[in-house]
Amino acid sequence: MSNPILSVEDLRVSYGRVEAVRRVSFAVDQGSLVTLVGANGAGKSSVINAVSGILRPAGGRITFEGRDVTRTPAHKLVGRGLVQVPEGRQILATLTIEENLRMGAWHTGGTAQRSIDAVYDRFPVLAERRALPAGALSGGEQQMLAIARALVAAPTVMLMDEPSMGLAPKIVDEVFRVIGEIRASGTTVVLVEQNARRALRAADHGYVLQSGEVVHSGPAAGLLADERIVQAYLGVETTPRQR
Ligand SMILES: Nc1ncnc2c1ncn2[C@@H]1O[C@H](COP(=O)(O)OP(=O)(O)OP(=O)(O)O)[C@@H](O)[C@H]1O
Ligand SMILES: [Mg+2]
Repeated sequence: MSNPILSVEDLRVSYGRVEAVRRVSFAVDQGSLVTLVGANGAGKSSVINAVSGILRPAGGRITFEGRDVTRTPAHKLVGRGLVQVPEGRQILATLTIEENLRMGAWHTGGTAQRSIDAVYDRFPVLAERRALPAGALSGGEQQMLAIARALVAAPTVMLMDEPSMGLAPKIVDEVFRVIGEIRASGTTVVLVEQNARRALRAADHGYVLQSGEVVHSGPAAGLLADERIVQAYLGVETTPRQR
């Protein structure tokens, strides 16, 4: 990768004495879809939260659009186009759908009605229910709302933490379809998934994390084709019910 839009070198994340991420490095080309896969506790969320500025790294270097952003807080990064869809969606259930979407643009100081309208065009189900509390949406619809809220911030790089978690297979298909559209529109995507096979099928490049370290990386198709990697790290195909 010659000139990545995002690069992470020797990243370390610690929680007190627990070293959750050790020397993780990866690079993301503009317009590509990169996935970080690994089992529970592998360190996927810790990596993505450090990149988005939610967590302060214990060491290493994060570069976004050629600038060192290792210690840049999340609210500043959102304004620069590095936006995360958090694990577990983090929808504000008592606020309306529209109010949740407005939160995606609070850093601009405006209402961002234009970007909200664009998001409504893409997600008609949210447009129809804009005045309802977000808590009235189904799990799948709440995931769409979380993605839509991130889109309102006009990301150049979108970081997604387990967007398919806990959703029925049909809704998982829908989520992956939306991710494909986001990528096709030119937004770079970093996708964290336990659903490794599915994520690798959608990705250009993949990194397999285990116990806080990258144990395999390469073109996603190559990782999927390597039976040893599939057996050792990717396990059986899971459905939400099996998890
Ligand atoms: N706030 C915290 N305090 C202490 N330890 C933590 C904290 N958050 C995560 N950890 C530990 O760091 C390690 C990596 O956790 P992390 O959440 O990054 O993994 P993950 O790959 O996202 O897992 P999952 O698939 O379950 O979401 C785990 O051992 C976890 O117990
Ligand atoms: Mg996680």
